[in-house]
Amino acid sequence: MPTLKKLDSVERNKIADQLRRGRTHDQKRNWGTSYSSGIKGPSLFPIHDVVPILNKLVESKKTKPRILDLGCTEGRCLKELFGVFGNKLEYHGMSLARFNEWKKTNSETNNYLNFRVGHAEALGNYFKKNHFDVIRSSLAIAHSNNLAKAIQEVRKVLKKGGLFIFSDDRVPTQKEIPGFSILDVQHFGFSKSIILKKIN
Ligand SMILES: C[S@@+](CC[C@H](N)C(=O)[O-])C[C@H]1O[C@@H](n2cnc3c(N)ncnc32)[C@H](O)[C@@H]1O
Repeated sequence: MPTLKKLDSVERNKIADQLRRGRTHDQKRNWGTSYSSGIKGPSLFPIHDVVPILNKLVESKKTKPRILDLGCTEGRCLKELFGVFGNKLEYHGMSLARFNEWKKTNSETNNYLNFRVGHAEALGNYFKKNHFDVIRSSLAIAHSNNLAKAIQEVRKVLKKGGLFIFSDDRVPTQKEIPGFSILDVQHFGFSKSIILKKIN
């Protein structure tokens, strides 16, 4: 289970400032609000991108693989994954705002999912280092106003060899993602699904 570090007022103010700057950044790009928006209807990036990866992990690992859905909104992706893997995985979801649907989603999954509010750029404050096998972020981390920093926070809490699968409209250069290699890029219209592997 994640270890929560109690945040002092300086850290809380820093995160609040990141939230404000993130929203301004989104407004400048004419992106919809990233704070509490969910997406209705079929998911643009369905879970098929992670299912084969998780299948391999479940088969090869002695311990339960841990997945984080970063920017999980109401928890739809985690619920779908629970439908496939049941209690063979440990599931975590995080968003910038608390979603009323989290309670309902959890009641439909034997209360097996862990949800929390948090900011991608402060991931290391919420979870232990080297904690997750897979982190997925569909239409979420790209909202960050400091993507390079957010990706390095992802790296902190990802295990060595762990995978980060995220969508953005641009593939980062190798210089922007030290400690990762690019495993795969798939194109979906205006956006891309990018798979990074933590290499050291
Ligand atoms: C467009 S929705 C994501 C949709 C969802 N992942 C899906 O595939 O249906 C954006 C979500 O990302 C979260 N988000 C945006 N920026 C974030 C950040 N910097 N850190 C954590 N969550 C963030 C928002 O709170 C929101 O829940």
